[in-house]
Amino acid sequence: MKVLVTGHRGYVGSRLIEVLKDGGHHVTGCDLGLFEGCEWESPVQADESLVADVRELTPHALEGYDCVMHLAAISNDPMGELQPELTFAVNRDGSVVLARAAKEAGVPRFLFAGSCSVYGKSGTLPVDEAGVLAPRTAYARSKVEAEEQIKLLADEDFAPVFLRSATAYGHSPMLRIDLVANNLLASAHAFGSIRIMSDGTPWRPLIHCRDMARAFVALAEAPTERIRGLAINIGSTDENYQVREIARQVASIVPNAMIEYAADAGPDDRSYQVDFSLLGRILPDFRFEYSLRSGIEELSRKFREHGFGAADFDGPRFVRLRTLQARRELIGHSEAV
Ligand SMILES: NC(=O)c1ccc[n+]([C@@H]2O[C@H](COP(=O)([O-])OP(=O)(O)OC[C@H]3O[C@@H](n4cnc5c(N)ncnc54)[C@H](O)[C@@H]3O)[C@@H](O)[C@H]2O)c1
Repeated sequence: MKVLVTGHRGYVGSRLIEVLKDGGHHVTGCDLGLFEGCEWESPVQADESLVADVRELTPHALEGYDCVMHLAAISNDPMGELQPELTFAVNRDGSVVLARAAKEAGVPRFLFAGSCSVYGKSGTLPVDEAGVLAPRTAYARSKVEAEEQIKLLADEDFAPVFLRSATAYGHSPMLRIDLVANNLLASAHAFGSIRIMSDGTPWRPLIHCRDMARAFVALAEAPTERIRGLAINIGSTDENYQVREIARQVASIVPNAMIEYAADAGPDDRSYQVDFSLLGRILPDFRFEYSLRSGIEELSRKFREHGFGAADFDGPRFVRLRTLQARRELIGHSEAV
């Protein structure tokens, strides 16, 4: 397959390049480079790399690809709240522009990196793809609205698919510690304390970033008629966790780390359990490589190898909000900025 991956220098995108290259695919990456210099380890290189804003990609530039995997986004709730107009300009409007260009170029398949955060708050039962969408943040709303608009482009020759992924965690050469499991583990390594910013009761479905990348590749290879225009939850139903359970698992693998609740901890408005059975029906042979336990054990070994400490935890390198705030000029041509 000839594939274009946007956001290939990000946390998930860098793992996706690795999975695609392992599978023998020809890959072009397109990334604005918002996190250049933040590498934790050297990522696998794409065959070709474009340093560009996805909103500048013309239909001509997209000709000849079998699939576009669109991951580029302002992928962060706090950044979305600080500057919602930028989040909508990139995540919704930029995605729609790119999908239209892909369709015009004759690209048959467009995989959109959606998010389970579109469910916002679920009841006590896991919510499936037909469940009510109740996005709680600008980031989640931008994903809902992008899905709605791109879905209208689906036809015989153009198959958009919306991968609503669980919250990612685990080792990546572009490490992030602003994701719940990575954050709790990083805090345990840096301070010997696992700092929970809520009362620990919110539910989150989790997925290892390499498994998320593998799901993109599996869906790029699945028969079109099974997936055209579908939203598909990406994750595993038995990997829904309450934050306090994630903390307990972290405590069980980092010697002497203690769980601490922030002084003003309250319930988090974002709490959802997700049903992932549709993915199993569409891809019956697909298996995840990681559980939370094996994923955090691996990342914990990496933290030890790298000597991860307080300066890493408190600095900008692994926390998107801090880096993005310092680099807003890179997306400065946007009308929204
Ligand atoms: N990480 C998660 O937990 C998670 C969960 C569900 C869905 N997603 C979605 O998966 C995708 C990838 O997430 P991630 O965690 O790897 O994000 P990330 O922030 O680590 O990477 C995003 C990449 O996109 C690039 N980018 C941003 N705006 C761009 C633009 N206008 N043009 C070109 N490049 C641009 C950035 O430079 C960055 O390298 C995102 O769409 C995100 O919303 C992530």
